[in-house]
Amino acid sequence: MKISFSEISTPSEGVVAVGVMEDRTLGATGRALDEQSGGMLSRALAAGRFSGKKGTSSTVVAPHGLDVDAVILVGLGQPGKIDGRQLRVLGGSVVGKANAAAARTAAVVVDAVDGADMAPPAMAAEIALGARLGSYRFDKYHTKKKDEDKKTLGQLTVMLDDPAAAAEAFAPNDSLASGVFVTRDLVSEPSNVKYPKTISQDIEALVEDGIEVELFDRDRMASLGMGSLLGVAQGSEHEPYLGIMRWNGAPDGADAQPVAFIGKGVTFDTGGISIKPSQGMEEMKYDMAGAGAVIGLMKCLAGRKARVNAIGVVGLVENMPDGKAQRPGDVVTSMSGQTIEVINTDAEGRLVLADALWYTQETFKPRFMINLATLTGAIIVSLGTYQAGLFSNDDELSERLIAAGKESGEEVWRLPLGDRYDKDINSAIADMKNVGKGREAGSVAAAQFLQRFVNDVPWAHLDIAGMAWMKRGDDATVPKGASGYGVRLLDQLVRSHYEA
Ligand code: BES
Ligand code: MN
Ligand code: ZN
Repeated sequence: MKISFSEISTPSEGVVAVGVMEDRTLGATGRALDEQSGGMLSRALAAGRFSGKKGTSSTVVAPHGLDVDAVILVGLGQPGKIDGRQLRVLGGSVVGKANAAAARTAAVVVDAVDGADMAPPAMAAEIALGARLGSYRFDKYHTKKKDEDKKTLGQLTVMLDDPAAAAEAFAPNDSLASGVFVTRDLVSEPSNVKYPKTISQDIEALVEDGIEVELFDRDRMASLGMGSLLGVAQGSEHEPYLGIMRWNGAPDGADAQPVAFIGKGVTFDTGGISIKPSQGMEEMKYDMAGAGAVIGLMKCLAGRKARVNAIGVVGLVENMPDGKAQRPGDVVTSMSGQTIEVINTDAEGRLVLADALWYTQETFKPRFMINLATLTGAIIVSLGTYQAGLFSNDDELSERLIAAGKESGEEVWRLPLGDRYDKDINSAIADMKNVGKGREAGSVAAAQFLQRFVNDVPWAHLDIAGMAWMKRGDDATVPKGASGYGVRLLDQLVRSHYEA
């Protein structure tokens, strides 16, 4: 779907969306369309339950006196409360409604709203971002889709008085959406297509975007002592890789201290010898969503030339059971020198991250480290699919993440760390074991494990197991399937605090 910005005119085809305030009043263009239609819009507004509340809409089909097939009246709520999140959802839902109406083109009119904090160009840029995010689909493996099942919308035009200003405000959002799409594509692909080698090739291709790339193979990781990560990879035919990306955008040059993002990239998680039940195991193709988010974020930061130095590190492995696979009870030595008793080979993500975190901290001395991982089923029990779990050793970083979550719509909820939870992962035979007390506080135990590989640097762990994949599409900017969670959150964090 193409998106463009233009001056306000009366569309001659497709559908057009206009805003309605909570007191059922139309903007300037809405009033003009109402007049051309002989009062059809104001009649529709008077007749139905729709009153312009935010998040609601009403469609007037085949309006008299107009060439368009439908006018979508979209609720804007109260002028003083209009915000970016609501406008992104609005953009996404217009795309959904236009497709449902089999329209090929759609226009959204952004009239100035008296009393709103946002000017039309900023509003248009948010609507366009939501529309683009909502238009995503992953249908490359449907070879026989019937025309009537295909999405029709090919062109969305956002109309306002100053289209040039809107296009300028949208430019970074366009890079953001491209980054989110990179993540969604990676996560949607099945594990016979995206495995450590092929993902590392995708990382290599980021050189074209101005990102510096390094890839460590098994030997290189072995020479660094990454026994924790390599133990997970040991049962798979696929070779593991550690992908390292660097974007140098800081105005004071490559020496400026970077921020760092680390991702769990288990390209398929069978559980290993502690094998998972077959019911639902296919979902474990998305166990690389943390790595996917880091890759998409790097793409976004480079695409919009973010004024920051950023490191992305992803641990790419497949967790398989075979004759060479590691066993429950095995003891491995991590790059940090700490030893780990592997009680459960299905608690593999933390083993991968242990070495990736340690490597990142020692090599780059970052301003902060944030890791993303589909780490525990327990976080889905705790928080469902609305917020990711946040664990952190730093209050300021946590506050910033929580705020960025609210702004971006990718929310996080902080959960505790503490000495008593930490003791739960002590082992009788090694420095630690990779699980805590069974079903008790499983997500905290995983976070405590990660924290043992973090020294003095501000650090946050985002458990995204519930957020990476949407079984339902209940947000108009996030279609069913791979959400791309984390890219918008962390781009917002960087935008708000870390760009010089
Ligand atoms: N990848 C899973 C966690 C997961 C579960 C992600 C569901 C997405 C959806 C992780 O590697 C795992 O298997 N965790 C175990 C840990 C347990 C063995 C301590 C879990 O959550 O059951
Ligand atoms: Mn697992
Ligand atoms: Zn896993």
